[in-house]
Amino acid sequence: MSEKDMYIEGLQNLPAIMSSDESIQEKFANTFMEFLQLTHLYDSAIKVVSTYLDVLDSEFNYKFQRNPIHNIESRLKSPESIMNKLRKKGLPISVEAAQKNLLDLAGIRVTCYYISDIYSIADMLSRRDDFVMIKCKDYIRNPKPSGYRSYHMIINVPVYLSNQKKYAPVEIQIRTMAMDFWASLEHQLKYKPSAAITPEISQELKECAERIAQTDLQMQKIFMEINDLE
Ligand code: GTP
Ligand code: MG
Repeated sequence: MSEKDMYIEGLQNLPAIMSSDESIQEKFANTFMEFLQLTHLYDSAIKVVSTYLDVLDSEFNYKFQRNPIHNIESRLKSPESIMNKLRKKGLPISVEAAQKNLLDLAGIRVTCYYISDIYSIADMLSRRDDFVMIKCKDYIRNPKPSGYRSYHMIINVPVYLSNQKKYAPVEIQIRTMAMDFWASLEHQLKYKPSAAITPEISQELKECAERIAQTDLQMQKIFMEINDLE
């Protein structure tokens, strides 16, 4: 959609916003303010985790002369995806429902070099005593039926605001570059609206994931051998 089309679509929604009915105006203003507050809180929670990951990465570097983290990406779920997910789950479309039911509004993806780096990072995150672990799923030891591998954590992160401390959940996906390569391509292939994913193609994708996992293990082995680790 072009910028102009988006602008026109926005204008078409204006009657509700510009409604002369004061209760509608007030409701809109309240929802808008709640959404801004939520965005600020979750965005800040992402900064807290990202900064900590940077600290861990550089500490690792001065101790072991190498970085465990290749890349860190983060995102806030878009209002459109929030609405779609709430709708899919049959929940009311409100800021409150999103905050209560969606644990992946704030997301961070950490790409590591080796499998062992994933567990080091996950361990350090789980040992921070002001981070509250909500959920932890090891899709490396237990890959998804699709072949997907990654280490997932949902952590409640404290954010110090001007006059209070608030918590926000952040979904952290930790994976190797190889796992990320597979997940990115598989996602792109599967989520194209026109994609016809037959069972045969799913099986082939799974086989690719398994081959990639073998390569990850082999690279890990080489790394251990070269560095005289057991
Ligand atoms: P969601 O409602 O999708 O968040 O599911 P969930 O709460 O059960 O979380 P899950 O542990 O399945 O992880 C969800 C996220 O992991 C997704 O948003 C994707 O980013 C990623 N993911 C999970 N399964 C797959 C997969 O088969 N392929 C790819 N490419 N990504 C996946
Ligand atoms: Mg999700």
